[in-house]
Amino acid sequence: MSEFRRWWKEAVVYQIYPKSFYDSNDDGVGDLPGVIEKLDVLHHLGVDVLWLNPIYASPEVDNGYDISDYFALNPKFGTMDDLERLLAECHRRGMRVIMDLVVNHTSDQHRWFVESRRARTNPYRDYYIWRDGRDGREPNNWAGHFSQSAWTFDATTGQYYLHIFSPQQPDLNWENPAVRSEVQQIVRWWLEKGIDGFRLDAINLISKAPGLPDNPGEGRYVFSLQHFCNGPRFHEYMQELNRAVFAHYDIMTVGECAALTIEDAIAVSAPARGELNMAFLFEHTDYYNTVGRDEQKLKEILTRWQLGLHGRGWVGLAFSNHDQPRIVSCFGDETRYREESAKLFATLLLTLEGTPFIYQGEEIGMTNAYYDAIEAYNDVGTVNLYREKVAAGVDPQAAFREVRAKSRDRGRSPYQWSAEANAGFTRGRPWIGVNPNYVEINLAASLADPNSVFHYYRRMIALRKATPALIYGEFLPVEAPEELFVYRRSLGGRTYEVALNLSERTVRHASAGAALIGNYPEETHKDRLRPYEARVYQIE
Ligand code: NOJ
Repeated sequence: MSEFRRWWKEAVVYQIYPKSFYDSNDDGVGDLPGVIEKLDVLHHLGVDVLWLNPIYASPEVDNGYDISDYFALNPKFGTMDDLERLLAECHRRGMRVIMDLVVNHTSDQHRWFVESRRARTNPYRDYYIWRDGRDGREPNNWAGHFSQSAWTFDATTGQYYLHIFSPQQPDLNWENPAVRSEVQQIVRWWLEKGIDGFRLDAINLISKAPGLPDNPGEGRYVFSLQHFCNGPRFHEYMQELNRAVFAHYDIMTVGECAALTIEDAIAVSAPARGELNMAFLFEHTDYYNTVGRDEQKLKEILTRWQLGLHGRGWVGLAFSNHDQPRIVSCFGDETRYREESAKLFATLLLTLEGTPFIYQGEEIGMTNAYYDAIEAYNDVGTVNLYREKVAAGVDPQAAFREVRAKSRDRGRSPYQWSAEANAGFTRGRPWIGVNPNYVEINLAASLADPNSVFHYYRRMIALRKATPALIYGEFLPVEAPEELFVYRRSLGGRTYEVALNLSERTVRHASAGAALIGNYPEETHKDRLRPYEARVYQIE
């Protein structure tokens, strides 16, 4: 491979949310033997790497993002033998497996925290961030992601501990070299077991602003990333971990970095810096989540990143994941043009620079799931916010409507395998409700139809892999009516044009090239793009 070619740039990643993927033992929860059972279809799809959301021992306050033992698995998912079998079965097929590495925080049930909270003099005290209160209140005004305050008072020792997420997810103190050394041991242990890399959870939160200053703003609790994101030692910690462990293995490392800018992405992924291979681009999903659907903004963000990062750094690209709504539901059309819009986003994802991540179900065009009562929800963010609103006097029905609209459970409903009961996900009672539309939207139906979303993903993945320009080529925006997103990718004298209609209108567009693939069965209209039509052309 030449200097700039890397397997992890050419790979297509498939994200498995194990709890909702496939249940092999009828307990209502997806598991590792279930993943093994389904490997052939993933191989057929053409994906190269599986990213597994956390499967470690955990009380599951945040679905495994609260780890109580980094060296053990949650028995609901299976045994270490199952994991080793999964690795062997993937490697045999030429596929790789990356795991989630959650080391900004642990579970409050982790042995380190159990010790840490026992006494101020406990040897593990400094593994976490403990502070005295201020005037009988929290040490500062930081609001948490899943709780009003980012601090919880612990009566045993009379101090508060910091948790950017829920109170059951205390933040590790990375300033303590012993913590960093523990993390290195964990990472090395898993790499020695044969896994092929990590997705590093909330990784740019590990260094906090010295002195933990108040967030700017009024009110008792203020949410802002300002003082706990990209702290002064973040890059030093990444370089240290890379030098000590990552650099000794041929692996993929992808960081989940909050509020990532292009400059941040370069700082964490430029090879010369020796940190991570890539970080996820989130600006487009963050914009959707805070402001709403805006196709012009989507184009502007993606174009800016493509131009700004080329040759300087690398990103992981995703339109959906376990924290986000489904792409068809937010930028496509869930009803009339569901299939077309799902295929359009396959085209976009697989023709941009950056390693593409497909979230389970995206390849069959799954849509957001909504449930009728708060009891049906599991997402710790949803449930905690609902409780806080009701406690603050908001009408429960109104509070429910608000939290339901943004719940992360929208994208966590079980994978829709077939039209059988529970979408073929389980013969037991599913841990979270199945989307009733599984009767029409399911893998069995998708496999049987040669024009399905699944087969389109398969063809697009194959096209990407056979076309280095789509992976490494320069990105060139092309002038087009506002409904369209048109760009070219060019490498070594070969140029491809991608034309996407992000609207429900038919819009004029003529390309000089020969169409290679498109999401409508036949190319009847050469001079226009129909609703959500997507085409890739080769320019002579
Ligand atoms: C990001 C993960 O994707 C999310 O699911 C989790 O709740 C937080 N980090 C905390 O670990």
